[in-house]
Amino acid sequence: MSRDVRRLLIVHHTPSPVLRELFEAVRRGAATDEVEGVEVVARAALRATAVDVFEADGVILGTPANIGYMSGALKHFFDTIYYPCLEDTQRLPYALYVHGNNDTAGAVRAVESIATGLGWERAHLPVTVIGAPVQDDLSACWELGATIAATISPG
Ligand SMILES: Cc1cc2nc3c(=O)[nH]c(=O)nc-3n(C[C@H](O)[C@H](O)[C@H](O)COP(=O)(O)O)c2cc1C
Repeated sequence: MSRDVRRLLIVHHTPSPVLRELFEAVRRGAATDEVEGVEVVARAALRATAVDVFEADGVILGTPANIGYMSGALKHFFDTIYYPCLEDTQRLPYALYVHGNNDTAGAVRAVESIATGLGWERAHLPVTVIGAPVQDDLSACWELGATIAATISPG
């Protein structure tokens, strides 16, 4: 079924002001006027459901790095949606942003591993931010949002 409006889902765990800054930059980019025909839906990772994913044409995932892994909240999201979504969301475009205070590699690896298992397709390199975000970091988050929106735009 063709639709005029595509849906971009942001699934995020945002437990601090710094993560809120990144999330807002991603959301502003995703909702940019430069891209038409995309609506943005944001869901806290602890609340997002398989139905949210079924209804999405693209997904942005956001998490802090916690003990060398993604947050428990984002892991809970994947635990919830993995099998229900496995067959019907193959090739879903996704992108990831991660904030940490010293090393985000384990969180990136963990998310990419699960997304690969789901058959999702990475549509942007992960944006990783260490410590207090500078303007370049916020711009990178904006770009990430805008790029995924452009990727799924009906044109
Ligand atoms: C229990 C715990 C584990 C953490 N583990 C990591 C980690 O493995 N790598 C990292 O870069 N930051 C780690 N952090 C820092 C968080 O990623 C950081 O607190 C979060 O992104 C929010 O940033 P903020 O504290 O500057 O607001 C950890 C924080 C906590 C509380």
